[in-house]
Amino acid sequence: MNQMRPLGSMPAFLDGRPKKLLIDGKWVEARSGKTFVTLNPSTGEPLDPCAEAGPEDVDLAVAAARRAFEGPWSRFTPAERQKVILRLADLIAERYDELALLDTLDMGQPISMRPFMEPLVLGIYRFCAAQALSLDGETIPNSVPGNILSYTLREPVGVVAGIIPWNGPLFGATWKVAPVLATGCTLILKPAEQASLSCLLLGQLCLEAGVPPGVINVVTGFGDTAGAALAAHMDVDKVSFTGSTETGRKIVQASAGNMKRLTMELGGKSPNIVFADADLDAAVPGAAMAAFANSGQVCSAGSRLFVQRSIYEEFTQRVADFAKSLPLGNSLDPSTVLGPLVSEEQLKRVVGYLESGRDQGALPLSGGARAIDGDLANGYFVPPTIFANVTEDMKISREEIFGPVISAIPFDNLDDVLVRANDTVFGLGSGVWTTDVRKAHKLASRIRAGSVWVNCYQAMDPAVPFGGFKMSGYGKENGKHHIQEFLNVKAVWINTD
Ligand code: NAI
Ligand code: MG
Repeated sequence: MNQMRPLGSMPAFLDGRPKKLLIDGKWVEARSGKTFVTLNPSTGEPLDPCAEAGPEDVDLAVAAARRAFEGPWSRFTPAERQKVILRLADLIAERYDELALLDTLDMGQPISMRPFMEPLVLGIYRFCAAQALSLDGETIPNSVPGNILSYTLREPVGVVAGIIPWNGPLFGATWKVAPVLATGCTLILKPAEQASLSCLLLGQLCLEAGVPPGVINVVTGFGDTAGAALAAHMDVDKVSFTGSTETGRKIVQASAGNMKRLTMELGGKSPNIVFADADLDAAVPGAAMAAFANSGQVCSAGSRLFVQRSIYEEFTQRVADFAKSLPLGNSLDPSTVLGPLVSEEQLKRVVGYLESGRDQGALPLSGGARAIDGDLANGYFVPPTIFANVTEDMKISREEIFGPVISAIPFDNLDDVLVRANDTVFGLGSGVWTTDVRKAHKLASRIRAGSVWVNCYQAMDPAVPFGGFKMSGYGKENGKHHIQEFLNVKAVWINTD
């Protein structure tokens, strides 16, 4: 049973008062006056209400972002923008206790994940701050007769809508806010309706850091109203979206009206491949956490586990034993490794997949049903589940579950597993566990996915690009490619005769 520890101070930001929208540097209520409430998924208890933005609020936010883009913000030098980002990073570091607690309360991200999340979030701001000073173009020798100099300029794309999911709100917002500030764009951030609070505190810190009014706007609300209004808005130049493939497709369609630039970071069903020659003591926890971290609510989760046939039974049993040893409980408890799913809706979706797996003949070696012991019954808990006896036509091995569920499938050799690993509509992450460097390189070059992790999984760094192929989307976040997503290339010709 999970025993709650004394929690120290709760976030000051949670003061029981309804939260507002951040538009043009001011906190305002939704025009409709409507609000909505999010729940703590560890306990089912309500948190502070948020303002529910509709299309009319989106219009105001877009207009503010446009004015800011054309106004004072456009005259900030790269060095001035860099200073603002670094100041923001320092403020985030100062208030990180509160920001982390908000995500823990709002979406159930275990507070024990902080040592991984905090350096990553701060690192992304600081990496983008450095990039702000190198938005360079090229000079290009041309063969046009006469003396004509040609060069390129890199210019900010303009007004950006950042639409993010709930599985890591502060982190997801960082992937939009940091490059927007580095490039001189402006932003309307639309957090997920399940978990908006840390994005609102982030908005406040932007103001304190000296980000001019209208540069970063935060509109809380629902996908089919506020989100859809942003995706279709004729004065939004770009959408940077993280979320499901299904919603991604709707955004692509909505973007056609004014040919928006898009970055799409979508779903996955990532293969994680374990060869018999792997260091199994590392591969067992590696394979488990590749799929179970954040209770499986990770776009690049290694949810299809391919295990070489000679070790299949031993290995899957060891992963199951490891899964049973992972503390499941209230996300505020520092000893909790796995917290709840974000919402009752997500719980139902994941439980539906567990039932479908069993109905189609898969065998859960661990977990397999909702956890309802003691206090867990009040939250949305699913224990880490590994299914054996899985075939590749089963729903659980084809669809993104977004819960702590592994489908374990045996394979015979490299050529065999390569075909199966690539037999998916997705292409986000992938893992290979082997001590044979030849296998590692061969698979790294032939797996169709944006990231290949060898003898590790889910490693992430501000300097290393991340993003999907196929129906996992397009465009990169992190690395120097990230910034380019927010820039237009302009060609300039100067006749010097
Ligand atoms: P979603 O993709 O619908 O929501 C993500 C964001 O998009 C939210 O801010 C939402 O309000 C917004 N949105 C929804 N409909 C929109 C629309 N028509 N136009 C513009 N914005 C819109 O994800 P949802 O519904 O929360 O989760 C459903 C499933 O999606 C999950 O079970 C999981 O399988 C998958 N998912 C995958 C994520 C990933 O990073 N790969 C993240 C979140 C969900
Ligand atoms: Mg949705």
